[in-house]
Amino acid sequence: MQFRRERRSGSPRRDHALLTRVFSAKGMAGLEDIFELSVPERIQEQLRRIPPDHLEYGHSTGVAALSARIACKLAEMQRDNPSLFKGKDAEELMLLSADSGAWAYAMGRIHDIGKVSTEEMRELFLNNAGNWEDREDKEQLIRAKEKHAALSAKELYHSGLPPQIIDGVLFHHYPKGYPHGFDEIEHPPLGARILAVADSLHAMWTRQVGKAGGYIKRRSLREQMDDLLSKNGAHGYDPRVTEALLKLVREENNLFMRRVSRSRSLTSGIKHLPIRPGREPRDLP
Ligand SMILES: [Fe+2]
Ligand SMILES: [Fe+2]
Repeated sequence: MQFRRERRSGSPRRDHALLTRVFSAKGMAGLEDIFELSVPERIQEQLRRIPPDHLEYGHSTGVAALSARIACKLAEMQRDNPSLFKGKDAEELMLLSADSGAWAYAMGRIHDIGKVSTEEMRELFLNNAGNWEDREDKEQLIRAKEKHAALSAKELYHSGLPPQIIDGVLFHHYPKGYPHGFDEIEHPPLGARILAVADSLHAMWTRQVGKAGGYIKRRSLREQMDDLLSKNGAHGYDPRVTEALLKLVREENNLFMRRVSRSRSLTSGIKHLPIRPGREPRDLP
C-alpha cells in the first residue's frame, strides 16, 4: 500500500528503477563488443584499472549507454525534422548514431579516462574515502576534476579514434567552464553536448544512491530533469539533447507503467487491466 502511494507521487524506488533502465546497455546488443574491437588496447587497459564494483566503472558504462541512446533518439528526431541539425552537427550525428550509437557508446566509456591516466589521478579518483566534500585532499581533488577532461583527451590523441570523439571528450564539461582557456567556446561539438547531459544526469543519480546499493531520496527524477532543463540555453545544455533525454525517460516510464499494470492484473486476478496511457514529461515524478 505504501509503495503504491509512493509510486503515484514519484517514489525514489520508481525513479531508481527507471534510471537503472535508462543507464543500462541491456537490449543494445553488441555495443561493448564493438567498443572492444574499435578502441585501441592501450586505452582499454587504462580503463581496466577501474575495479568493476567502483562508482567510476558504473559511471563509465552508464554514461556510455545513455549517450548511445541519446544519439539514436536524436537521429530519429532528425529523420522527422531534417533541419534539426545541419552541416557539421548533422555529419557528427551520423557518426555518433551509426550502428546503434556505437561511437557514442565508446565516447561515453572513455570520457573520464583522464581520471585514471596517472598514479596521482588514480589515487584521487579511485580513493573511496567517503564524501569528497569531507576529504582532506578536497582542494587537490577539485583541481584534478578541473583538468581531467583535458587529460582524457590527451590520452586519446594519436589513438586513431575519430577526432569528433576526442573533441567530444575534451569539451564534455563545457557547461562548467573547463578545460580552462576554452571557457568561451561558442559551439561545443555535438558529442560534448550529448556527454554533458548524460554525465550530469548520471552524477545527480549516483549522488543519491546509498552506499549499500539502496537509495535515499534527496531529489526526485522530476527535480533532476527540471535542473537539466533550466540550464538549456546559450552556455548550458543543448535543448535538442535534453528533449531527446525527456523522450527516452518518457518511453521508459511508459514501459514501466505497462509492466506494473501487468503484474497488478496477475495478482488481482483481473486479466485485462487497461494499460495506463503514456504521460507527458511535465507529469513525470
Ligand atoms: Fe568528466
Ligand atoms: Fe563523467
